[in-house]
Amino acid sequence: MTRIDEIAPGIYRVSTHVPGIGPTGMSFNQFLIDAEQPLLFHTGHRSMFDAVVEQVGRVVPVERLRWITFGHLESDECGSMNQFLAAAPHAEVAHGALGCMLSVNEMADRPPRALADGEVLDLGGKRVRRLETPHVPHGWDAGVLYEETTNTLLCGDLFTHLGDGPPVTEDDLVAPAEQVEDAMHATCLTPETGPTVRRLAELEPGTLAVMHGSSFVGDAGSALRRLADGYDTRLAAAR
Ligand SMILES: [Fe+2]
Ligand SMILES: [Fe+2]
Repeated sequence: MTRIDEIAPGIYRVSTHVPGIGPTGMSFNQFLIDAEQPLLFHTGHRSMFDAVVEQVGRVVPVERLRWITFGHLESDECGSMNQFLAAAPHAEVAHGALGCMLSVNEMADRPPRALADGEVLDLGGKRVRRLETPHVPHGWDAGVLYEETTNTLLCGDLFTHLGDGPPVTEDDLVAPAEQVEDAMHATCLTPETGPTVRRLAELEPGTLAVMHGSSFVGDAGSALRRLADGYDTRLAAAR
């Protein structure tokens, strides 16, 4: 069951709820930015391609997709990267320069565009900035996207929470995310984890586009700082 909802002006969440992960299931969300150069942030699993592309096509003909992007190498992030490249002849994968060197140059069916830390892609009506976050939440090549015109942080696995909630919530996500962290231990805890998340908080986003769970509208800077504090506490407890 895959659906599409607009979570910020021109930013659409393609959501597939997968029951059987934990007590209430988990959603796998991809984000489509509708602009002159449409962009997809994470593709979803290879096995989800047909469902995701069908929903994308309700907003943008898939062959118009210009950019295929994701946070880090993992099957839910970029499992159908090459299927999208085949379906969208003008599309390029855009990923951090390190990740291109480590993996994407070899794995993508067409050469990727390597983005520097902080580099902006002007999509025509929307502007996305790639921010490198090595090992946050996991993966050496990890990074996030920040969409400047809507003040939206596409934060990938940060704030992962379970259930089949609404597309957008104003409810606090820190506690549900900490419950998932306690159960799944998905985050790479290092001395840089908290500071990296605090740097994202300085953007003071108004919307968080969350890969697993509801997107959040509200004081996301505060939420990111409290998430960072939680990581610091976990790291200190492990010493
Ligand atoms: Fe991940
Ligand atoms: Fe994920």
